[in-house]
Amino acid sequence: RLSFATRSKSVTTMAASQEFTGNLKHEVEKLFAESLRLTVPDGTSVDTEVAASLPGKPGDYQCNNAMGLWSLIKGKGTQFRGPPAVGQAISKNLPASEMVETCSVAGPGFVNLVLSSKWMAKSIEKMLVEGIDTWAPTLPVKRAVVDFSSPNIAKEMHVGHLRSTIIGDTLARMLEFSKVEVLRRNHVGDWGTQFGMLIEYLFEKFPDTESVTETAIGDLQSFYKQSKTKFDNDTDFKEKAQKAVVRLQGGDPIYRKAWAKICEISRTEFAKVYQRLKVELEEKGESFYNPYIANVIGELDSKGLIEESEGARVIFLEGFNIPLMVVKSDGGFNYASTDLTALWYRLNEEKAEWIVYVTDVGQQQHFNMFFKAARKAGWLPESDKTYPRVDHVGFGLVLGDDGKRFRTRSSDVVRLVDLLDEAKTRSKTALIERGKDKEWTAEELDQTAEAVGYGAVKYADLKNNRLTNYTFNFDQMLSDKGNTAVYLLYAHARICSIIRKSGKDIDELKKTEKLALDHPEERALGLHLLRFAETVEEACSNLLPNVLCHYLYDLSERYTSFYSIHQVIGSKEEASRLLLCEATAVVMRKCFHLLGITPVYKI
Ligand code: ARG
Repeated sequence: RLSFATRSKSVTTMAASQEFTGNLKHEVEKLFAESLRLTVPDGTSVDTEVAASLPGKPGDYQCNNAMGLWSLIKGKGTQFRGPPAVGQAISKNLPASEMVETCSVAGPGFVNLVLSSKWMAKSIEKMLVEGIDTWAPTLPVKRAVVDFSSPNIAKEMHVGHLRSTIIGDTLARMLEFSKVEVLRRNHVGDWGTQFGMLIEYLFEKFPDTESVTETAIGDLQSFYKQSKTKFDNDTDFKEKAQKAVVRLQGGDPIYRKAWAKICEISRTEFAKVYQRLKVELEEKGESFYNPYIANVIGELDSKGLIEESEGARVIFLEGFNIPLMVVKSDGGFNYASTDLTALWYRLNEEKAEWIVYVTDVGQQQHFNMFFKAARKAGWLPESDKTYPRVDHVGFGLVLGDDGKRFRTRSSDVVRLVDLLDEAKTRSKTALIERGKDKEWTAEELDQTAEAVGYGAVKYADLKNNRLTNYTFNFDQMLSDKGNTAVYLLYAHARICSIIRKSGKDIDELKKTEKLALDHPEERALGLHLLRFAETVEEACSNLLPNVLCHYLYDLSERYTSFYSIHQVIGSKEEASRLLLCEATAVVMRKCFHLLGITPVYKI
């Protein structure tokens, strides 16, 4: 017979004063894990099932283990009469903790935990003094690669690259906040057959290649188009271009120099966009992995993965109807061989434990295939959530108002810089309409217009589940109502203005005053603040920035519910409420930071 116990295994009352380590859900899980340890029969191990309670339900967190546990132990001589009794035991066995106000059982054994408002208030006070970084989640990896943006040389960055840049930057920021060292990699398309034609065209147009400058070439995109037209219509040129590829790949110094020149001009263009978006990343383009490809393909070959097929060398993979080509029939390497090599490099040379690739969903098959090849080679574990881990972070299309792929009237691709310019101009106009040009300095006006404009573009992209297509619409994203960056930035600025208007020194208040969460709206706001870390953790592990956007929008809604009912300045709770305002502003700013949005303080 198995023996069951309620609070008899040992005296395991947890430290009466429970310090909040940032992740509220984890703290609650720890309590329930301990209670389950006391409740289940010896030798049985169960995973703690804890979830935040839905709004309007009793309790703040719920433990849902009773039903599962019951089916595990019933008929085995248990003393319990059914799931509710198991729930009662879980509830009774919960270690005493300062965190807990009450714990009760509902329905078929749901255990509802109500947090102590006092403890919640204390935890927020502590964050205010010690800083929001004390709420950073901890992830099970030390180093990650985020491969994002990754435009192609000589082709302009377009909206697809904008998505990759914005999403990738946010993921990198969230991981960095979670104490992961992030190698932000720009896997630029700087290698491939198109360079033969580009170089030949460069030689033709600028015999003095050395001195060619960015201004001489002008728009690299049209340069690309012109050379492509020539390539398609002029057989002599085509032949020269094909020979140029061979010479370039053979390492001919003149060709290498011309190649470097073209890359450099492209790079200057890209850098301007990154600077505007305040995105940092390090270029390790396709060409970087060249010296390693032959060895890596050799390793795969020696493992017996590579077969001949129609003159090419391929890897056959279960579940795919086409093989993965790794050496073309002309002996050249391709996108997949480069990606396999880059993965090898990241795992072995850079010791990354998590590698995340941000591209449109159209490339999903490519990623699934070379991930599978890497698993087959034993570089990665079979299970895809185990570390070292790889993820393809796919995203949908950007659509225009007509529901088709986003384009401008004049050109077939939308230039990224033009979009940013327009967003800024539009938000400046809106600020001037509100008379801000008379209140602020020209610099303040410009900086606010930029923060709001660029923030709007980023947020409109991030707030949707990345896999769905989204419609690019300036009017919508720049509206000050609804779930937009403008609304959120204004909400933050308004909080800051309340604090300023109070005339109180907030840093002084943090040290001397107490926070109380006595009213339901104060408590709901406080609870949401405390859920910040678990939200970031969820957004990280599922690689979903929209989870954080959702949280931020909810936060400002909860703040509004609080502020519309409770007076702050001049009330007897003024000091406490100012602290709550400040905590809200601090968390909002951190969210903005993680989303790559610059906060504004005045509006
Ligand atoms: N250059 C590619 C493109 O523009 C994206 C590269 C993504 N990264 C990678 N490791 N494949 O489509």
